[in-house]
Amino acid sequence: MNKTILKIEHIKKVYHDLSGEMEAIKDINLDIYDKEFLSIVGPSGCGKSSLLSILSNLSTSTSGKIVFDNYNVKIGYMLQSDSLFPWRTILDNCLIGLEISKELTPEKRNRVIEMLNMYGLGEFIDKYPSSLSGGMKQRVALIRTLATDPDILLLDEPFSALDYQTRLALSDDVYKIIRNEGKTVIMVTHDLAESIY
Ligand SMILES: Nc1ncnc2c1ncn2[C@@H]1O[C@H](COP(=O)(O)OP(=O)(O)OP(=O)(O)O)[C@@H](O)[C@H]1O
Ligand SMILES: [Mg+2]
Repeated sequence: MNKTILKIEHIKKVYHDLSGEMEAIKDINLDIYDKEFLSIVGPSGCGKSSLLSILSNLSTSTSGKIVFDNYNVKIGYMLQSDSLFPWRTILDNCLIGLEISKELTPEKRNRVIEMLNMYGLGEFIDKYPSSLSGGMKQRVALIRTLATDPDILLLDEPFSALDYQTRLALSDDVYKIIRNEGKTVIMVTHDLAESIY
């Protein structure tokens, strides 16, 4: 068994608004192992996205803690909505993480272009998100997440906007990339079949 990369200890999340409290996560405890592919399945509204946003540090938990194996663990988060920037080209959308972390080198840029070609987006490199279909936008979002070469990938319903055939092809690709590049993955979905696949 690989070593633990991440421990989720007694995580609880309560949202507050004018109508009162809403307990989105009760008490989650999980050990996640290095290079593990973990999928979390549950119906809409059960707190899946809330958990990922806590893991990625975009939001805080009400109580409990997340313990990483070391300080250098890098997280890539593919949000449930593709959240591409409409004013940036497809390539520039994929490079944004590298730009922000000041890691953009010609080699990394080429690797992103290679991935775009591999996922059938080669012709769209200089186009804008508005000219892409929903499934294509999801692929761009996935490539953007992979571009920074994270150790842990958080995927929030990554294939939900895809038709069945594209979904099978893409989940195959994703699985290959994850296996080749040795990533730890936490994927959430409401689709039991997808998680088994
Ligand atoms: N920012 C927020 N403020 C208040 N309540 C929220 C907020 N975000 C989520 N919730 C509530 O917390 C619960 C869990 O939401 P969450 O988005 O984590 O569910 P989910 O499992 O990802 O659902 P889905 O499968 O539909 O994406 C829901 O009842 C939702 O209404
Ligand atoms: Mg969600």
